[in-house]
Amino acid sequence: TPALHVTEWSDVVDGWPRLGPQSEKYVRGVVGLATGSATYPGAAVLSVAGALAGPTGLVRYAGTAAAEVLHHHPSVIATGRVADAGRVQSWVCGSGLGTGAEAAAELRTVLAAPVPVVLDADALTMLVDGSMADRLRRRDAPIVVTPHDREYARLCGEEPGADRVGATLRLAAWMNAVVLLKGNRTVVGTPAGRAYVNPTGTPALATGGTGDVLAGLLGSLLAAGLPAERAAALAAYLHGLAGREAARHGPVTATDVAVALRPVLAELG
Ligand code: APR
Ligand code: MG
Repeated sequence: TPALHVTEWSDVVDGWPRLGPQSEKYVRGVVGLATGSATYPGAAVLSVAGALAGPTGLVRYAGTAAAEVLHHHPSVIATGRVADAGRVQSWVCGSGLGTGAEAAAELRTVLAAPVPVVLDADALTMLVDGSMADRLRRRDAPIVVTPHDREYARLCGEEPGADRVGATLRLAAWMNAVVLLKGNRTVVGTPAGRAYVNPTGTPALATGGTGDVLAGLLGSLLAAGLPAERAAALAAYLHGLAGREAARHGPVTATDVAVALRPVLAELG
């Protein structure tokens, strides 16, 4: 059996990037998001909301939902294309992006950047194309993929099945990427065979758009310099706590989860 760690609050506290008198926005990190589309502008707004809640100092958005993003989040620097976005320390790509030629071109630009990337939703669908998968395996910088069960099945050709840790580690080894397999107990697995199980999940998160918030938060943790497996385990943990916090006030929307990240993270000082 592989090494399996159940994430705890002390994992979050250890090594959390805290503010100090010398903090500066570019040093805190810049996260870029290539998410959303004319069809799904909400995915852009929600992934940006997740990123803004994280420890980075600046959020850049590159995509066709720039107007909606700026309407909801005026602190973001927005542009139309990834190539025009300027420097970032991580990219989040795929949530609500679509799978057409434009989306594929943006994904290729993201994969060519020498920074950690989060690949979610439509970016995972585009990886089923063998040439995209090759680009991924040739990459040096870390990759985190964030499939739910159907996205996993599309990538692997079969459902995760009962052994979710084994399923996560198989995909991690095959893709040479950190895998975050979403579910009631989200599993994070690494190509080296380490696995983390998240105990904070809540069925209140089973509502459209919470996955987009998670992807944005994870991108922020990567841009802040956390190692990929740690960033993935902590993002799942904090996202679960935010879901629980939001659920105290009634039925949960994905926007509520992004808002609830603030009181959860306030505990960290
Ligand atoms: N218990 C705990 N956590 C859960 C549960 C549950 N029963 N159900 C869902 N979650 C969590 C997952 O762990 C994940 O963090 O909610 C989040 C859902 O993320 P996604 O599955 O990516 O859903 P999202 O993208 O937000 O919703 C729109 O619906 O049909 C899909 O592909 C379509 O991407 C689109 C998605
Ligand atoms: Mg999703």
